[in-house]
Amino acid sequence: MNVANTATIRSHFPALERRHAGGPVAYLDGPGGTQVPRVVAEAMADYLLHHNANTHWAYPSSAETDEMLAASRLALADFMGCDAHEVALGANMTTLTYHLSRALGRTLSPGDEVVVTRLDHQANVAPWKDLARDLGLRVREVPFDLSSGRLDLEAYERALSPSTRIVALGAASNALGTVTPLEPLLAQARAVGAFTFVDAVHSAPHALPNAHALGCDALACSPYKFYGPHLGALFVRADRLDELDPHRLPCADGEGAARLETGTLSHEAIVGAGAAVDYLASLATPESQAPSVGRRARLAAAFDELGARCDALLADLWRGLEAIPGVTLFGPPPGSHRTSTLAFTVSGVDAERVTAHLAEAHGIFTSHGDFYASTVVEDLDPGPGGLVRAGLAIYSTPHEVVRTLEAVADARSA
Ligand SMILES: Cc1ncc(COP(=O)(O)O)c(C=O)c1O
Repeated sequence: MNVANTATIRSHFPALERRHAGGPVAYLDGPGGTQVPRVVAEAMADYLLHHNANTHWAYPSSAETDEMLAASRLALADFMGCDAHEVALGANMTTLTYHLSRALGRTLSPGDEVVVTRLDHQANVAPWKDLARDLGLRVREVPFDLSSGRLDLEAYERALSPSTRIVALGAASNALGTVTPLEPLLAQARAVGAFTFVDAVHSAPHALPNAHALGCDALACSPYKFYGPHLGALFVRADRLDELDPHRLPCADGEGAARLETGTLSHEAIVGAGAAVDYLASLATPESQAPSVGRRARLAAAFDELGARCDALLADLWRGLEAIPGVTLFGPPPGSHRTSTLAFTVSGVDAERVTAHLAEAHGIFTSHGDFYASTVVEDLDPGPGGLVRAGLAIYSTPHEVVRTLEAVADARSA
């Protein structure tokens, strides 16, 4: 399949026309939320301006709403690699994870154990710890290796036992970019009878999720990290759904995974998320004579090519940063299991000052702090202001990498 080139992709994003500090903005803040293509914003505006209604009523705009929401749920199922009735939608990943944790809590008793990791975002730690506190569960925390930024697999194995009831793992670290190959870890968790939860929020923009093939019981992602609007999406495996007893309030009537939803959702965001999936699929076009190709196959082709482009940019950014005196990089090097997100510090300059300098003097938008991966920053102890994080996205260019390297090189004098 042919995949759209970067110039074409960039023409889809009005935000890239923004200028700051005398030049075009370079958005390296994708791990915190990516920019949105015009078609996504147009789909949301079209819904709000022409179809806006509540669900399940006997008039056209309500019926259109039902159809549009169902179509988006199906698109997100294609994206996550599951069936539409296995998808729950909500305000964000954190809220959905919290709901799920409470539903699972109804099946647990004091002394049961939950496994979390120190490499994860708090959204995949705090809901489980909170549940443990309320129910008297024991929490086992898996550390990561400080120099490689990878999960300590021996410690993970030791954390599992017949008492383990929930294992919560991240597919990729939003702070360091570490990708954890999850299949063997999930198999080990299943072998002790645990419910397995995967936080795919940081990995989903880089590697197309495949919930069924991965072998997890639940997986969550956030469309605002993959060119969509602010929303969360949760997969729960069909046979696990039957065992779940979510806290149902009498103001939502969804079936399947939608039983985890409460109240009226952001219809426009759901429509926009479906449009984001279709946008990503549209970037791959079959050769002219090819038989018709489904959305999932197009997504896979687009992700393969776009992922390879981002990896190449990441390698250039990493190597360039490595060569700048005073820069310390954290996490796994290029060419290993990682996303195109990296973290660094500049000696003697607070991380917030580095990012402010990159923005103010060079129009380069990066993030600083701990990004709610609080235990990662606690353990690495990188110094004042935490880490500087730069993430490459499908609209990133080699020129932006060069600009970033020049900007970091003069950040010490900032
Ligand atoms: C790895 C990871 N998990 C979870 C979250 C939380 O997602 P949400 O904002 O949808 O709750 C984030 C957000 O930055 C994240 O990067």
